Amino acid sequence: MIKQNGTYLVMGLLDTESIAYSIGKTIQKWGGTVIYTAQNERFKRLLLDPSLKDLPEEERRKIRVEFCDVTIEDDLKNLFANIGTLDGIVHSIAYCNPKTCLGDEFHTDAVDDIKLGFHISCASLGSVVRYAYPKMPNGGSVVTLTFDSRHAYAYYNWMSVNKAALEALVRGLARRHGKDYIRVNAVSAGPLVTKAASKIPGFGHLSETWNLISPIPWDANEDRQAVADAVVYLLGEYSKKITGQTLFVDGGASIVGGAIMDHERA
Ligand SMILES: NC(=O)c1ccc[n+]([C@@H]2O[C@H](COP(=O)([O-])OP(=O)(O)OC[C@H]3O[C@@H](n4cnc5c(N)ncnc54)[C@H](O)[C@@H]3O)[C@@H](O)[C@H]2O)c1
Repeated sequence: MIKQNGTYLVMGLLDTESIAYSIGKTIQKWGGTVIYTAQNERFKRLLLDPSLKDLPEEERRKIRVEFCDVTIEDDLKNLFANIGTLDGIVHSIAYCNPKTCLGDEFHTDAVDDIKLGFHISCASLGSVVRYAYPKMPNGGSVVTLTFDSRHAYAYYNWMSVNKAALEALVRGLARRHGKDYIRVNAVSAGPLVTKAASKIPGFGHLSETWNLISPIPWDANEDRQAVADAVVYLLGEYSKKITGQTLFVDGGASIVGGAIMDHERA
């Protein structure tokens, strides 16, 4: 499926609930080597702190975690200076100030927050690929994580705008890097309980919405593995002519008009 003994950089590990963690575990299950990144040194220390017992002890000893704040050019430079050839990259990173860019009211005058949210959640994919592509001389695959930006969901406001831009960026990067045999795609996941999700005001409403609109039942606590499996598919050989796409792994919710009726339920 993926390249045996290939090396994959998985960016955006906060804790074991992170989608990045499930993706990393799945890459390892299929025979790949994983280098994770955390946002900064403090988050890396917390992740590896034995007293917090988030990571199993055996894994803590083996795991490779670097740190990189994607808004800091020197962090990006150092990260890529310290790693060798890569076969693929996962960008599982997003942030918007929940007080200004998410929530009950769409309108905000917090333009700096809008810019920061865009930088972290969208433009950073471009920065990562700019540093990463010389590390993939034999081609490779880049996958980012998005959330359905074709519909306007309550509370998701400016993050939805960032996700739409991220999907456009995926297409632009796919076009630019075809000649390098580097593919760039996005996986659009249904709602999953993670730290980032817990910062979205009204996240519970999104999970409830999925109960109403998803033809295949969706479990916001359990379905991260389905998302990780699709990411690994896009990283690997079986998707070798797929690039510039957004693959929905959301139980089908994004194609439904109206709600699922009782007679349609599993
Ligand atoms: N959880 C969901 O419901 C859901 C659904 C669809 C898509 N996604 C997307 O999946 C991705 C991963 O999110 P998650 O749900 O696993 O949450 P998470 O909180 O575990 O991961 C988000 C990561 O982004 C990192 N990050 C934020 N600012 C950063 C910066 N400046 N530099 C580097 N890293 C930074 C955080 O440290 C964290 O590791 C995000 O792009 C998110 O939008 C999540």
